[in-house]
Amino acid sequence: MTRHFLTLLDFDRDTASALLDRAIQMKRERFRSKLLEGRIIALIFEKASTRTRVSFETAIRHLGGETLFMTPRETQLGRNEPLKDTARVMSRYVDGLVVRTFGQEVLEELVAWGSIPVVNALSDKLHPCQLMADLMTVKERFGTLENIPVAWIGDGNNMANSWLEAATILPIELRMACPEGFEPDPLVVDAARDGGANFMLTRDPMQAAAGAKAINTDVWVSMGQEGDDSRMQSVFEPFQVNDAMMAAAASDAIFMHCLPAHRGEEVTESVFESPASAVWDEAENRLHAQKALLEYIFSV
Ligand code: CP
Ligand code: NVA
Repeated sequence: MTRHFLTLLDFDRDTASALLDRAIQMKRERFRSKLLEGRIIALIFEKASTRTRVSFETAIRHLGGETLFMTPRETQLGRNEPLKDTARVMSRYVDGLVVRTFGQEVLEELVAWGSIPVVNALSDKLHPCQLMADLMTVKERFGTLENIPVAWIGDGNNMANSWLEAATILPIELRMACPEGFEPDPLVVDAARDGGANFMLTRDPMQAAAGAKAINTDVWVSMGQEGDDSRMQSVFEPFQVNDAMMAAAASDAIFMHCLPAHRGEEVTESVFESPASAVWDEAENRLHAQKALLEYIFSV
């Protein structure tokens, strides 16, 4: 059986919980192994990346493997070689694909036509690897995810969709405040509702933030949305995470952001640089969460 990771819904609660605990343990142990010795994993990135690329390349090396980094610019992907052909060719060479792309269907096509594990390193729809690190960060800070109120403030983007999926498989309480017209994907919302997620959607960021243990936000313009004139400052400004919003949250609340951040837009400098800011742990946890993920995928 080939294990893929395209969405958090690939995991049930027990699997996700075990992986988060394993990631915390690996962090504590500064874990290294030879699990991936002799294996090569290709990273195919159609969008820019600092954290995801470096944390995957480092994690794979910590597990004894090697990496290849590819972009459309210097490969035939940029000249429209069909994905289904790329999937079959890459499957003959390497042992796994970590892919950052636009449409979620690109990942699904690679799975359908290839014969090696595929990991979603961000799509327009979802960012599940970031969520594993974020959930790990929440669990590290509060010792549990059980009924922890988590707020999502701002754009209903790939991160927001993945938080909804997180609430579907894990027992967090998710409160989302998004501007009108920038809600999460309705299909993801419906799936979360059908899957029994504990979540609410509101237009009032203070309502979502009140008493929350973690306040999450993200950029107003995601990769690929540059030039979308509807993403106006006036629409998003009421959703800026500022000191007043943090004051409404729980007294031990943390601020979270997947990074890169735009200070003065979705978050103020004072919140971003405050003691409540957990952003560096979040970034570090990408490495540990992905090590646990790679171990899970390549142990079968
Ligand atoms: N958070 C995140 O995915 O960052 P990069 O775009 O730098 O990989
Ligand atoms: N929502 C952002 C996340 C970046 C890590 C984007 O897709 O650009």
